[in-house]
Amino acid sequence: MVERRVQINNEADVMRITILTRKMLESHCKQSEYMLISTVTSELATNLVRYARGGFIHLRFDPSVRQMSIESSDQGPGIENIEQAMQEGYSGGKGLGVGLPAVQRIMDEMHIENRVDGGLRVQAQCKLKTSHR
Ligand SMILES: Nc1ncnc2c1ncn2[C@@H]1O[C@H](COP(=O)(O)OP(=O)(O)O)[C@@H](O)[C@H]1O
Ligand SMILES: [Mg+2]
Repeated sequence: MVERRVQINNEADVMRITILTRKMLESHCKQSEYMLISTVTSELATNLVRYARGGFIHLRFDPSVRQMSIESSDQGPGIENIEQAMQEGYSGGKGLGVGLPAVQRIMDEMHIENRVDGGLRVQAQCKLKTSHR
């Protein structure tokens, strides 16, 4: 199991964790697949900076079952209406509102919840579908 938990406070952190996602997967699947999965990290990390004044991204890759897990957690305001936030084109800010729907589309499973102690937690996982070569 390869595992990293990284604090995300700004755009530079978003860049770093996105590249880290690529690096974790690049020897296990095709470029098209790890680039797509790294956009999930990028969208969740961007949301941390934009809406939660930062938070954490937790990456886990289990090579034995080729399963990638991407989790974001923060202590921001959470989301009042999760169903609405998951709609394509809805943004509570000035975004395009395509980030969370993209996470849903790209990953096999996605869970999003307001944490009992405040903030939001998004957990997403998928199995790799392509082989390295
Ligand atoms: N970590 C978060 N904390 C609070 N609100 C969030 C968080 N992530 C997303 N949201 C809310 O969900 C909405 C939809 O997110 P998203 O689909 O990424 O679109 P966008 O970022 O373009 O607005 C955001 O506009 C914001 O209101
Ligand atoms: Mg977004």
